[in-house]
Amino acid sequence: MKTARSFPRRPFLGIACVCAAFMAVPAVLAYSTYSPGCAACHGDFRSSPYVSLADGQSWGDDLHDVHRNTMLSGECGTCHTSGGRSPVFTYSSDGGGGLSGISCIGCHGRAEDVRGIGTEGAGLRQHHYRAGVTICFDCHDDADPAAFTPVGEDVLPPFYANPGTNHPNIPTDSCNSDGSENFAGGPTGLDNDGDNAYDTADPDCITWWGATDLGGGWYWLEWFGYFNVNFAPWIYHDQHAWLFPFGTEDPGGIVFYDAGMQQFWWTSSVVYPFVYRFSDGVWLFYELGSSNPRWFYNFTTQQWEEH
Ligand code: HEC
Ligand code: HEC
Ligand code: HEC
Ligand code: HEC
Repeated sequence: MKTARSFPRRPFLGIACVCAAFMAVPAVLAYSTYSPGCAACHGDFRSSPYVSLADGQSWGDDLHDVHRNTMLSGECGTCHTSGGRSPVFTYSSDGGGGLSGISCIGCHGRAEDVRGIGTEGAGLRQHHYRAGVTICFDCHDDADPAAFTPVGEDVLPPFYANPGTNHPNIPTDSCNSDGSENFAGGPTGLDNDGDNAYDTADPDCITWWGATDLGGGWYWLEWFGYFNVNFAPWIYHDQHAWLFPFGTEDPGGIVFYDAGMQQFWWTSSVVYPFVYRFSDGVWLFYELGSSNPRWFYNFTTQQWEEH
């Protein structure tokens, strides 16, 4: 397995290393500090106003002030070291106020993505890779989505709300359902897992009516049973088979399109196994556990239906 320290893939970098071996160290370090690596594209951290490369919106202020003042309530050691204000490492700092000394990856990385030394920012790199900034792959093989799957958008970066008390404005939710990743520019926060789906638009952030995540795409609701979401927005229910839900948040009532029955029906945690079918406006009672065929009692015709 290749780490960030292995040799770059691109021939021109390889040749540079051969021609001037002593230059190899600064060339590699350049990408582990903000300047000149990240600054080559994102500009000086202190130049105002910053215009987002992700959504083209102006921040009206610079990256430095929005990060240090608005997000971090003036905690300089989050990114800096006592050795001096420059350079700023992307993965190492003094830390402080309850935040560990891991600098940018405290918010732009996840500990769950670690594969060897210093590779917490896989989601950040895959966001770049998908946007066509494939240079990250020269040194980090986890930049290619085909090579590595970062943990989902819903897994919190280490600094999130940790501890919120010293830094009241620090982001709390990587799904950004509370808007806590929005500080400037456009209405979205970060694409933490680098799949190009932001915030609640990321399937990882769907709550499935508060169901318990059993792994492998399977979920369980006490009143509704087992279902699989690997083919979301369709769900595969243990007895009902293919259902298309309208809305995935509110457990107070769900409308489904039932592929087997080819009808729309409504149910909720309170009324299930009673379901209301829209096409003919009738209440049905589903015989729990029946499957292939399922049995439904139709209260209007007073007959059992097989589906
Ligand atoms: C070669 C140019 C380039 C370099 C080098 C670069 N970036 Fe980016 N970065 C981009 C572009 C372009 C985007 C916007 C991609 C998009 O959303 O379409 C971006 C987006 C981002 C985002 C927003 C991600 C999101 O979730 O919306 C962050 C944060 C970021 N970069 C941080 C960094 C850091 C930290 C470094 C240095 C380790 C870095 N970038 C190096 C070009 C670059
Ligand atoms: C979110 C991370 C972050 C925080 C928090 C932060 N800074 Fe910075 N700071 C940076 C980055 C990145 C640079 C640019 C370094 C570079 O380009 O080499 C920088 C540059 C600077 C510089 C210019 C250094 C030089 O020699 O050019 C000064 C001074 C500075 N910061 C002071 C502060 C002070 C004071 C605080 C706390 C009130 C603070 N910073 C908080 C990230 C941060
Ligand atoms: C406290 C959490 C936190 C820390 C620490 C942090 N960031 Fe950020 N950063 C964010 C959030 C949240 C955003 C998105 C803000 C928004 O969209 O309103 C962001 C946005 C950015 C962007 C703008 C991307 C774009 O173009 O839209 C860059 C570049 C960036 N961060 C670089 C850094 C660097 C470099 C460091 C370390 C020196 C750092 N960040 C440390 C939370 C953090
Ligand atoms: C020339 C090689 C090289 C390239 C290209 C490169 N990096 Fe790195 N990167 C490194 C090295 C070396 C480190 C430091 C790792 C260590 O020493 O632990 C590092 C560290 C990082 C870190 C902090 C450590 C971590 O755990 O994630 C981030 C974030 C990062 N790089 C993002 C990027 C992004 C985004 C790109 C593409 C825009 C990129 N890098 C391109 C060599 C590179």
